[in-house]
Formats: sequence, C-alpha cells, structure tokens
Amino acid sequence: MTKTILGLSGSLRRASFNAGLLRAAAELTLDGVKIETGSIRDVPLYDGDLEQAKGLPTSVKTLQTQLQAADGVLLVTPEYNNGIPGVFKNAIDWMSRGPGLEMWVGKPVAVLGASPGGFGTIMAQNHWLPVLRTLKVDFWAEGRLMVARAGDLFDGDGNLTDPASRDRLADFLDGFARAI
Ligand code: FNR
Repeated sequence: MTKTILGLSGSLRRASFNAGLLRAAAELTLDGVKIETGSIRDVPLYDGDLEQAKGLPTSVKTLQTQLQAADGVLLVTPEYNNGIPGVFKNAIDWMSRGPGLEMWVGKPVAVLGASPGGFGTIMAQNHWLPVLRTLKVDFWAEGRLMVARAGDLFDGDGNLTDPASRDRLADFLDGFARAI
C-alpha cells in the first residue's frame, strides 16, 4: 500500500530553498511512498472573528483534507530571526482549528529545512518542538536534516542540485518513511 506524506513548505518565495527541498523530496522518495505537496499560499492571517463568522477558509479545509488522508507530514521550514516564519506558523494554527485539532494527534511529523546560513535552520527546527508537542503529534526524532549554506547547493530557481545533499535528503526520507 502506498504511504502518503503531506509536504508543506513554509516559504512563499518563488525560488525558495525550502520549496526546492520539498520538490527534491518528492523526486527522491522510494517506491511505495508518495509526497503530496500542500500549499499555504492562500491561507489568510488567522482572525478569530473571521473564523466565527465564516468558519474555516477553503484553503484551510483543503489542507485539513490532505492532512487527514496523510500517513505522515513533512514540515520544510525556513528560519526567520532564529524562529519559525510567521506565515508558516499561521498556516499550522489555522490547520489546528475545528476538526483539524484531532487530525494532528498521533500523526507522524518530520521537520527539515534549508537556509543560506551556517546552521541550516537548527533554531527554527527547535522552535517547532513545543508547537508539535502541543498538537500531540508523533514527532520523528531519529533523523535530522539541516541544509546549511543553501546558496551553494541550490540553483537560481531553488532546485537542489548538490548530489551529497540529495543523498542526505534521500536517507532522511527513507528513515521517515520506514517509521510511518
Ligand atoms: C532570514 N534568514 C535567516 N536565516 C537563518 O539561517 N537564520 C535566521 O535567523 C534568519 N533570519 C531571517 C529573518 C528574516 C525576516 C528573513 C526574511 C530571512 C534568511 C533566510 O534563511 C533566507 O531568506 C532563506 O532564503 C529563506 O528561506 P526560503 O525562502 O529560501 O525557503
């Protein structure tokens, strides 16, 4: 049976390293594993009044449908000011509303990320931990993937071209897929 992994990138940038890391992940998964890419682009800023008046936005419902169907989730996170980018956290906050709260419970989740700096999103990845704990996910802690110095490893369109990084990514995905 095919295992489906919902992949979310936390960047809206056209040539995003993190969106490129997710594209590479979708190319590198083994037989029997499929990465379905979700989009946070149309998720509005969280507003409790909006939620009360109109319920969950369509973009959020779509993400929740994908989350429900997924055997695991990959969060491909940029790092801003040593933490989680607001646009990404905002999307996950919306996804935790209504029926979404239950959908996270026990869901296998892996975090990875890329940045042009020397630490490759280690602080942002750590920043996700209390969020994921609160959502009661099954956090996959066995593998770690910080893609540092991303400017040397991706092309101008954000494609991961460095063979060694692609190998590390394939190993990471293999480990996560086996765990779910
Ligand atoms: C950054 N960047 C960054 N990088 C990092 O490694 N540690 C950091 O703390 C920060 N802080 C930070 C703050 C803000 C507001 C911005 C806009 C950027 C750089 C960041 O890693 C870089 O812009 C990446 O290219 C973002 O990821 P995407 O868009 O390429 O996926």
